[in-house]
Amino acid sequence: MPKMLKKALENILTIDEIKQLYGSFDIVGDIAVIKIPDALLDKKFIIAKAMIDNMKSIKTVLRQATPVSGDYRTRELEHVLGEDKTITLYKEHGCVFKVDLAKVYFSPRLSTERIRVARKVERGEVILNMFSGIGSFSIVIAKHQLESMTYSIDINPDAYDIMLENIRLNKVSNKVIPLLGDARFVIEGSLRGKADRVLMPLPEKAIDYIDVAIKALKPRGIIHYYTHTHASKGEDPIEKAKKELEKKLDVPYTILESRTVREVGPRWHQLVLDLLVSQC
Ligand SMILES: C[S@@+](CC[C@H](N)C(=O)[O-])C[C@H]1O[C@@H](n2cnc3c(N)ncnc32)[C@H](O)[C@@H]1O
Repeated sequence: MPKMLKKALENILTIDEIKQLYGSFDIVGDIAVIKIPDALLDKKFIIAKAMIDNMKSIKTVLRQATPVSGDYRTRELEHVLGEDKTITLYKEHGCVFKVDLAKVYFSPRLSTERIRVARKVERGEVILNMFSGIGSFSIVIAKHQLESMTYSIDINPDAYDIMLENIRLNKVSNKVIPLLGDARFVIEGSLRGKADRVLMPLPEKAIDYIDVAIKALKPRGIIHYYTHTHASKGEDPIEKAKKELEKKLDVPYTILESRTVREVGPRWHQLVLDLLVSQC
């Protein structure tokens, strides 16, 4: 939490109330999205006012009213203060993304992961992004590896429409091919054996789609496999995720890299395993 904001909150909340507040919040463009514990809901306006007064770039404060859920991975948002809107422009890595926070999934917290993957892409690669949302991974890749081609699939029609706009905004229409539908059917229908690299940024379901990710690969292709793993005290989440995946995969593969992308809850970790699949 920025120092200025912390100081401002110290003037309006008790020490106990500040302790109850979540330590961080998302800023997407000029919109801040905050979670407020039930006990502090009656303070939401003064908290939002402190944010708008102390962080000049914030024009709107929304409260996350439900967790992310459903196939589209969206959440309910309540307008608290400032301009009543859910659409904004967000910039990262030389790209600009239109985002409608009410209709699509988007997380600025994946920014480091997007550029990590983009930097691995080699000249001439064909990439398949199975769960692309508004096209953020696909567009960062297209901007950083000019000689690449990315098939970019999403099942949410709103995410697909916004992806079309983002492809135009970032002038990558010759490098990103947007596709609307269920990744399983799209791949089985027309993308078998086409990709050098497959991205699976849907940690909740990637394990159920790993078979079709393999079908999409060329020989010696790479999969960026995302998962959420719970690890008890003393357990290594990465080793646990590797074991779970091993049970599911019946092709030879090597793990090139594994890392924690971010923490998503107490003892819950979002991880990525980069797999080199030697035979498909
Ligand atoms: C966690 S979001 C990731 C979005 C994007 N990669 C990002 O980082 O901004 C997962 C996306 O997968 C999409 N999705 C869910 N099930 C799908 C499926 N079976 N086929 C294609 N897309 C799917 C959702 O609509 C959502 O946009």
